[in-house]
Amino acid sequence: VFAGVPQGPEDPILGVTVAFNKDPSPVKVNLGVGAYRTEEGKPLVLNVVKRAELQMIKNPSLGKEYLPITGLADFNKLSAKLIFGADSPAIQENRVVTVQCLSGTGSLRVGGEFLARHYHERTIYIPQPTWGNHPKVFTLAGLTARSYRYYDPATRGLDFQGLLEDLSSAPEGAIVLLHACAHNPTGVDPTLDQWEQIRQLMRSKALLPFFDSAYQGFASGDLDKDAQSVRMFVADGGELLMAQSYAKNMGLYGERVGALSIVCGSADVAVKVESQLKLVIRPMYSNPPLHGATIVATILNNRDMFEEWTIELKGMANRIISMRQQLFNALNIRGTPGDWSHIIKQIGMFTFTGLNSDQVAFMRQEYHIYMTSDGRISMAGLSSRTVDHLANAIDAAVTK
Ligand code: LMR
Repeated sequence: VFAGVPQGPEDPILGVTVAFNKDPSPVKVNLGVGAYRTEEGKPLVLNVVKRAELQMIKNPSLGKEYLPITGLADFNKLSAKLIFGADSPAIQENRVVTVQCLSGTGSLRVGGEFLARHYHERTIYIPQPTWGNHPKVFTLAGLTARSYRYYDPATRGLDFQGLLEDLSSAPEGAIVLLHACAHNPTGVDPTLDQWEQIRQLMRSKALLPFFDSAYQGFASGDLDKDAQSVRMFVADGGELLMAQSYAKNMGLYGERVGALSIVCGSADVAVKVESQLKLVIRPMYSNPPLHGATIVATILNNRDMFEEWTIELKGMANRIISMRQQLFNALNIRGTPGDWSHIIKQIGMFTFTGLNSDQVAFMRQEYHIYMTSDGRISMAGLSSRTVDHLANAIDAAVTK
């Protein structure tokens, strides 16, 4: 009965890993998926995560019972504080609803489904370009995805004018997806001044912000600094949605731990919104998993562990920054044609190299270097051992 089912395409990001795994070459490098690797090219489980897990094993009161539909209450409270700030008036006024979801993607999807059912405007504006999964998540949730200009290939920076123009002509009340920091895939963020102008424009047109925060702490190494854009939009008393992921900043990729927060206009509204989020979640996956959320709550609740986490987080962020410098230097030494300064200007996990899909294919074929076809490389997958190999490949690709 399924004979007519057509073959689906591989995912543009996760499919790169599938191809990488099949390649027998000993020099292959995977710079596709945004997942942190050590200098030795190995995945990293943070020491503080191991410590939290050890503590959890020894705790006799921790069982394997179901969580409530909304997830672990402590985790939700601590997650809202982490992104909005401990002194956030919205939290103090009980205007924030937070539900534990399946990492960033699950949070976006639950938020999208809620908006499709209960918000008057179904159009969501997403940056051009954006993380490849965004349009699919929102379209399947029942929203209509449109794009707004974001990246200017000529300057390899922000197309701020284009962004303002497109948001100005969006219909009143439209939803706007914003990357809280470390924009994926470009590594280009607005400055704080630009954020303020975006905020003013959006509030004047009642555009509803939907933040995706997958890299808090990864952009600057400072959790509060990376939340500044979001906190501006909370400080003005307005409403917004926030999808948080702990995949990157706690290295909890496979634990699928994240949170959706909705900042509402009043505490009464927040209660009703929560009741509707439960109705979205229950038929979808019933309730979220316990383990990852307990790890996060243990770390966020313990001063000493929190401190250790911030140190480890800074360590990851700094290694990525150092890889940027090393790659930039390696291309300079080779005299590779072009201006490569964007490698050190862009922030977060990715460099949007400007390499085209032919050059990307050439590098995969000849050098066994894997990246997404839009020329995005995960700096977190690079190490001092592999940087020369990558520089040789880029040099050959642009001079061939
Ligand atoms: C990425 O952009 O590489 C990550 O967010 C992983 C993913 O799920 O795509």
